[in-house]
Amino acid sequence: MNILLCGDVVGRAGREAIQRHLPGLKRDLAIDVAIVNAENAAHGFGLTERLAGELYDAGADILTTGNHVWDQRELIQYIERDPRILRPANFPAGTPGAGWRLHPLEGGRNVLVVNVMGRLFMEALDDPFARLESILAQHPLGRSATAIVVDFHCEATSEKMAMGHFADGRVSAVLGTHTHVPTADHQILPGGTAYVSDAGMCGDYDSVIGVEKAPAVRRFVTKMPGEKPKPAEGEASLCGVFVVIDDGTGLARRIEPVRVGGRLAEYVPVP
Ligand SMILES: [Fe+2]
Ligand SMILES: [Fe+2]
Repeated sequence: MNILLCGDVVGRAGREAIQRHLPGLKRDLAIDVAIVNAENAAHGFGLTERLAGELYDAGADILTTGNHVWDQRELIQYIERDPRILRPANFPAGTPGAGWRLHPLEGGRNVLVVNVMGRLFMEALDDPFARLESILAQHPLGRSATAIVVDFHCEATSEKMAMGHFADGRVSAVLGTHTHVPTADHQILPGGTAYVSDAGMCGDYDSVIGVEKAPAVRRFVTKMPGEKPKPAEGEASLCGVFVVIDDGTGLARRIEPVRVGGRLAEYVPVP
């Protein structure tokens, strides 16, 4: 099974990068499921029904989110009607929407996609480790789920690596999102789980993590609150990770970065 996860899509530039590059990547890499973190798709803040539709049209199969999930209030209603959109699974019980989805694929296979959020330097949600544990108890790898992909939306690389080792051998991949900067530590952990601390963003890298650089720099220099950050609108790079999973064991065979367009050095895996 071939998986592509695209990191946080930031604003129009990020959406355009998805529209421009995702269809070709899906075709060339024979992607079975494309997971796109869409928490910043709506002008940097949240996601709407219309923009979810645009991402589906470009080839996204599952949309994950994170701390920005409720920035657009309409999603609080809409998420209940669209099970392809996930919010972090460790929100308190009773939160609208779902934190995981068992997504059916051809040939009787399926992939369990789980979205969880870290707690270090982030809003304090329920324990993401305990939450993942309870989801895995329900859907163990290789039994009800052919593959399991975790989008761990998290600030601290330490918490992300801990999650990787916690889940090693029990999920196909633990893939980090949220920092908007791709890391180069993609690897297969000893137990067979593919891991990367952060997939990076789909956004304009001539920016401060996707927002206009001048006001962001000014805020650091003056320590004065500025206007609400606006996404940078130059050509975006699509950033993500490509993971090949063994359909028999559910463990990873390969993980490689994907960077297309914009300012970052391009890297596309050879099929
Ligand atoms: Fe983000
Ligand atoms: Fe985030």
